[in-house]
This record gives sequence, C-alpha cells and structure tokens, in this order.
Amino acid sequence: MLVKELNLLNFRNYKEQKIKFCEGVNLIYGDNGQGKTNIAEAIFMFCSAKSHRTPREIEMIFLDKDYSKIRLDFCDRQRSHTAEITLERDKPHKIKINGVENIKNAELIGKFLAVMFSPEDFSFIKDGPSERRKFLDIAISQLKPAYFKKLSEYNRYLKSKILALKEPSYHDMIDLYNQRLAEIASDIMEYRHNFIEILKPKIEKLNKEITKKEEILRVEYQSVVPYTENKEKRIKEIYKKLQKVKQRELIEKISLAGTHRDDLEFFLNDLKLKDFGSQGQVRTAVLAIKLAQAEILRESYGEEPVLILDDILSELDAGRRRFLLNEIRGKQVIITGTDKANFGKRKDTKLLYIKNGHLMQNEKGE
Ligand SMILES: Nc1ncnc2c1ncn2[C@@H]1O[C@H](COP(=O)(O)OP(=O)(O)OP(=O)(O)O)[C@@H](O)[C@H]1O
Ligand SMILES: [Mg+2]
Repeated sequence: MLVKELNLLNFRNYKEQKIKFCEGVNLIYGDNGQGKTNIAEAIFMFCSAKSHRTPREIEMIFLDKDYSKIRLDFCDRQRSHTAEITLERDKPHKIKINGVENIKNAELIGKFLAVMFSPEDFSFIKDGPSERRKFLDIAISQLKPAYFKKLSEYNRYLKSKILALKEPSYHDMIDLYNQRLAEIASDIMEYRHNFIEILKPKIEKLNKEITKKEEILRVEYQSVVPYTENKEKRIKEIYKKLQKVKQRELIEKISLAGTHRDDLEFFLNDLKLKDFGSQGQVRTAVLAIKLAQAEILRESYGEEPVLILDDILSELDAGRRRFLLNEIRGKQVIITGTDKANFGKRKDTKLLYIKNGHLMQNEKGE
C-alpha cells in the first residue's frame, strides 16, 4: 500500500494544500501546533472515515468554512485509487472512490490500509476500557468490514433498548431487544475472540524481541460471558446474562451488560500490566501490539499497511527507537516530529517541513 498524494481543502488549519509522498520514509516536521498531526489525521481518515482524535467531524473543518474536502491518491498491488471525503457542517460526510459517489463507510473499510501510532496509544493499557475497545473495533473493522456493520447494528439496538428502559410504555419490548442484542453480541464476540487469538502469539514474540528478555506478554479477552465455540450456547448465555440484570436496568435506566462493556487485560509474566507495569514495560507492550496489528493486516490482505507514526519517536528510548526503525524497513512510513534529528539519516527519506498550515519548500519558510 502506498500513499502518493494528499490534497486538503479547508481541513483543520489547511486552506488548500497538496502533499506528495515518497515510497520510503516521509518525515513531517515542524514546531508544535503547526499542523503535523492534522496531516496524519487526514490520511488515517481514509481507513474508516473516522478521525482517530475526535468523533465530532465539525472540528476538522477550517474555522469559518462550510465544508472540507480531503483527497487521497494511493495504490495497492493491483491498481491506483483516488478516494475523497467531504465533511459538511450540518450533514453527514460523503465518500467517493474512483469516481463512484455515495460510498458507505463499510465499503471504504479495507480499501486503504494504515496503522496509526500516536502518543495517546501509550496510555491505552492503563486507561478505561473504552480505549481498549476502540483499539479492538478499529483493528477488526479494518480486517472484516462485516464486523463494522455488526457493531453499527448492535449500537442501534442498544440505543433503542436504552430508550425503552426510560419509557415505561416500551418496557415490554426489552426482552425482544435483549434477544436481538444477544444474537448480534455473539457474532461480535466471535470476531473479537478470533482476532485476539491471532494477536496473542504475535505480541508475545515481538515483546521478547524488543526487550531481549524472556518476559511473557499476554492478553486476555474479558467479555460479557466466557467465550464458547458453540454459537447457540453463546447466544443463550448472553441472553441469560442480559435478563439477569434487567430488573436493575429498569431501576437505573441504563444498560448494565453486553459486549459494549467488553475489555482486554494485558499481563506481563502473569502480573496485570495495568496495575504493575512500569512506564517502559507499557511502552514496549504498546509497540509490540501496534507492530502486531500491522503484521495481521499484511497477512490477511497480502499488502503492507502504511505506518503513521505521529510524534512517537521522541517518546521512545534509543533501544526501542532502533527496533522500530529496523522493523519499518520496506514499508511506507509517515512520521511526524518536531525534530528531524531524532530520526537519523536514511536514503529513502523525504523531508516535509510544515509551518502554520503550509508545506514549505525549506526551513527558511520560502
Ligand atoms: N478546525 C480548525 N480550523 C483551523 N485551525 C485548526 C482547526 N483544528 C485545529 N486547528 C489548528 O491546528 C493546529 C494544530 O495542528 P496539529 O495538531 O496538527 O499540530 P502539530 O504540528 O501536530 O503540533 P504538536 O507538535 O504540538 O503535536 C493548531 O494551531 C490548531 O489551532
Ligand atoms: Mg501533533
């Protein structure tokens, strides 16, 4: 997978900008607040039409403008593609791919493959469960667009159920919603379980390679009910669990169980990383998880995903940085940072200097 060119119109602090990328390492550098992450964000938008930073699209539109348009020219091993996303103030976004309009989000997924790695990712092991679910959802959606559809369907039923919990005249609908939610949840669980099974050996191996120690990094899937292979049994168990909390849900008027509360627990040598991990151990684990995610994408599509490393080199010590820079050989990489020196010298590097929402020819600002 190769990003060739990005065009931004009224996106964040860019009025109009064209950026061409090279096949190797693209180093976007400049002072704080100039628009480096904005470029990373715009490119990552083409994975699933979602920002990695905000659920509010309006934030991405240049201050006083009505709309924003971003276009990505990229190619996979078969052919070149042009994808365009238009964000509007009062309307949902529009997607166009290779001239075809009204492309749905689920149809965009899997067309452009990238893995984003930013400093916020370092806290995802210790943060609340929603960040870990977000990781799972993005990673699995990229692999299985059908998963994305299931999640949307689940969320629609969940919303209706929560409305029904609040409205006494709808209370008799709840058993029905629980049945439907149990069915969809059982599929979501299967996707998550399968993904984690593939992730497990990869993160264990990568973690050992980075640390050169025999520490074992493990992950455990914590779901609404323990996972079983039998789908019918899974549906029954989830339904039973949902019905068990129904009375409490009716009193509290919120949903108390379901796959929307799933979590991941990471362990290092059987100690919970969340509680006992040092900063360095957590960073290594996150690095291993991200590289494993890229490996899984490559194996399932036969395409090398683009790696977007937003401001993370300065967060890594020399050993981890060396490991990462070695791992990314042969991939297209888009790196942002305030200091180009952090990166070292490589032949296949393109330097892109950003100042106040503009790509400059050089650091003198010409
Ligand atoms: N909708 C918008 N309209 C105009 N400007 C915006 C908009 N959203 C963000 N900005 C501006 O974009 C800039 C931040 O860009 P970005 O996050 O890409 O910076 P950065 O170069 O990555 O900085 P850092 O090195 O601190 O991470 C800020 O100056 C912010 O005011
Ligand atoms: Mg930034």
